[in-house]
Amino acid sequence: MKALVYHGPGNKAWEDVPDPKIVDPTDAIVRIDATTICGTDLHILKGDVPAVARGRILGHEGVGTITQIGDAVGRLAVGDRVIVSCITSCGACSYCRQQLPAHCLDEEGAVGIGWIFGHLIDGTQAEYVRVPFAENSLHRIPAGVSDEAAVMLSDILPTGFEIGVRNGRVKPGDVVAVIGAGPVGLSAMMTAGLYGASRVIAIDLDDNRLGQARTFGATDAVNNARTSWRDEVRAMTDGLGVDVAIEAVGVPQTFDMCTEIVRPGGTVANVGVHGKPVELKLQDLWIKDIAITTGLVSTTTTPMLLKLVAQKKLPAERFATHWFKLDEMMEAYDTFARAAETKALKVVITR
Ligand SMILES: NC(=O)c1ccc[n+]([C@@H]2O[C@H](COP(=O)([O-])OP(=O)(O)OC[C@H]3O[C@@H](n4cnc5c(N)ncnc54)[C@H](O)[C@@H]3O)[C@@H](O)[C@H]2O)c1
Ligand SMILES: [Zn+2]
Ligand SMILES: [Zn+2]
Repeated sequence: MKALVYHGPGNKAWEDVPDPKIVDPTDAIVRIDATTICGTDLHILKGDVPAVARGRILGHEGVGTITQIGDAVGRLAVGDRVIVSCITSCGACSYCRQQLPAHCLDEEGAVGIGWIFGHLIDGTQAEYVRVPFAENSLHRIPAGVSDEAAVMLSDILPTGFEIGVRNGRVKPGDVVAVIGAGPVGLSAMMTAGLYGASRVIAIDLDDNRLGQARTFGATDAVNNARTSWRDEVRAMTDGLGVDVAIEAVGVPQTFDMCTEIVRPGGTVANVGVHGKPVELKLQDLWIKDIAITTGLVSTTTTPMLLKLVAQKKLPAERFATHWFKLDEMMEAYDTFARAAETKALKVVITR
């Protein structure tokens, strides 16, 4: 088959590799019908994730059709259309049993991490992928849900919802600010309404992204290149600040921004992946009674989100801005890597 192979920092190729095979009886082989690229894949290509070995097939998002199942797979069948979750879970370890498969203990020797596709094992940017613990790691797609909507449930929608909205404890009436209007921040904006946020303020440096945010559930948009951004945000609350500030960028500046605009008693929910240390100004923050949360997505809410997508209550397909075929993978990466110019949100790559 063909796949996108990582050859060290700055190097990748769409090339011939051996077809994946069933290794464990709990495995399935999935023919990829649609996949997409995540900001994390760009981090890997920069060399920011040293655990990714040369020769690894990248990608942790995808939908496809089961072509083979191991002997122990009972609840899925060849021919099923499925979402491949970015988190692989054994279903039996102590973390899986406390609904935290992000830290699954039983992954191919990778103790304590559920994200293994395109990281510790071969991923989804390929014609076929081997899925360990298939019954727990795949979700059957109901009729009427398109591939391009379903693929947003592999990673971005559960991430924005679980690590942003749910960790942020959004309640009815809350004013929520989301810093960073990329696919993950937009997912938090789209799902903040599920818990009755009264106002959702999108904050970004890119006016195009802010314009898109208004179609993803943001009621207001603030460009933080303007020096007045703090006052603009405060004026959208009762003057005290927002109830929940969601960080969806992953740089020290935007984490600080969250702590500046959160009201006393509020929550800062960090979603961004940070590569550099962030200074925690505890000398100013201790008195504010705030909570700060972090997390790696567990994708335990994927079935619920999928139901809402099937009911047309979450327009997941709206993230798709550019379409490619699998053998145009290199062009797809180029378009996604130049998102500021190309205005790409998610590129959908189909067979
Ligand atoms: N916690 C998890 O489980 C998890 C899962 C997936 C992704 N992530 C992380 O979530 C973050 C967002 O992902 P994404 O794919 O949406 O990223 P993205 O790069 O597509 O979007 C980031 C947005 O932030 C904006 N931005 C950049 N610098 C800014 C600044 N200083 N002030 C305001 N806005 C700024 C950009 O204009 C862009 O719109 C990344 O750090 C990603 O690695 C976390
Ligand atoms: Zn991702
Ligand atoms: Zn487990």
